[in-house]
Amino acid sequence: MGGHKSVKTKELYDEYMITGMVAGFEPIEVERASGCFIFGSDGKKYLDCFSGIAVTNAGHGHPEVLAAAREQMEKLVHCCTYVYYNPRAGELAKLLADIAPGKLRKSFFCNSGAEAIEGALRLAKQFVGRREVVALTHSFHGRTVGTLSVTGNSGRKKGFGPYLSGVAFAPAPYCYRCPFRMGYPRCGMACAEHIADTIRFQTSGDVAAFIAEPVMGEGGIIVPPQEYFRAAVEIVRKEGALFIADEVQSGFGRTGNLFAIEHYGVEPDIMCMAKGIADGFPLGAFIARPDVGNSFKPGDHLSTFGGNPISCAAAIANINVMRRDGLPGKAAERGAEIMRRLDAFREKCRIVGDVRGKGLMIGIELIADAKKTPAPDVAKKARMALREKGVLVGVGGVFGNVVRLQPPLVMTADEAAQAADALETILSDLAKAV
Ligand SMILES: Cc1ncc(COP(=O)(O)O)c(C=O)c1O
Repeated sequence: MGGHKSVKTKELYDEYMITGMVAGFEPIEVERASGCFIFGSDGKKYLDCFSGIAVTNAGHGHPEVLAAAREQMEKLVHCCTYVYYNPRAGELAKLLADIAPGKLRKSFFCNSGAEAIEGALRLAKQFVGRREVVALTHSFHGRTVGTLSVTGNSGRKKGFGPYLSGVAFAPAPYCYRCPFRMGYPRCGMACAEHIADTIRFQTSGDVAAFIAEPVMGEGGIIVPPQEYFRAAVEIVRKEGALFIADEVQSGFGRTGNLFAIEHYGVEPDIMCMAKGIADGFPLGAFIARPDVGNSFKPGDHLSTFGGNPISCAAAIANINVMRRDGLPGKAAERGAEIMRRLDAFREKCRIVGDVRGKGLMIGIELIADAKKTPAPDVAKKARMALREKGVLVGVGGVFGNVVRLQPPLVMTADEAAQAADALETILSDLAKAV
């Protein structure tokens, strides 16, 4: 075992692993994590403002989630998914039906966000009896062929095409870089209206579903205007298609509601979940209206590991903690505090083009000049400098120029202020340097 310890993880990664590590960013070797903090094996403590890509919403290692998982592990680790009943899966499905918006009631469990999207698309096609899908530019739905096919970002798709046919893209509701060069609300929701044209001109009219993230995560925290989903979904439903909400990143309290689509007063026909569902235990799910869910017949869809009993037990505890401790409300409060600070800061800092978000899903779009030229290099430098200051953030957006703040929802007001202080200092320094 001694020999083991002397081998550097970096060397093991370099020699033996196929990784997706970000170029030019020296990874932190993580020893352990607790609440809002990550502890490196270098002895450093980091304020985590990224939650492992919006996963540990209840905080790293929440004691009640761990206890539920531990208890379940002693009883049953795996359960065959098609000839036995897994009690925890049944309980979790009931709980999801209780908290999900509208008529969403019947769940399918899998292991990841991408699998949830794949399953939801299959279900929509089965129910509607059609094959085409409308998605959004700037979207991200996963790394499988099916999910990349509905992803509107060539950077994520490059090198691995061709993708599935039968996907049409409507322009994202990205007000800062309006696809119609207009301004909200003067635009009259042109992006939503354009869905009708997308269907008319880019499809054969055989549309089963419109899939969208209620707040777009990887696309750079794009927050659609308040009326967007009402207008978009009305058009889609007129065409006889379903609305699939991808809540993989925006779900489980992150935006100030349990699910981000609740901000828009629209009920999805199918909703996809993963990331924050079990505070770090791997689990994906989609939940559908009963009539939609019932369109899968035995054998139509299956996952060997889907709905793992330990992950389900963790998810139940996680959701109960979220509701009892009012974590969505806390996300709304902390988010408002950070946004207030950053909005004021934006006025003074020329490299900050836009600050946007809901709850603790916040994006800071960095620009090089008054023409809004994206500044991805500055975003990279900001991430590195913040890390040096002990604050971990994400970077995203189709242009790679959006700093993302997505901390655990248990973040305190002091920790939120610490993150905002660090951001203001680093961005002010970078604005002087470029
Ligand atoms: C909105 C959205 N959908 C789907 C996915 C894919 O999830 P996973 O990485 O668990 O497959 C992601 C991952 O970032 C996501 O942000």
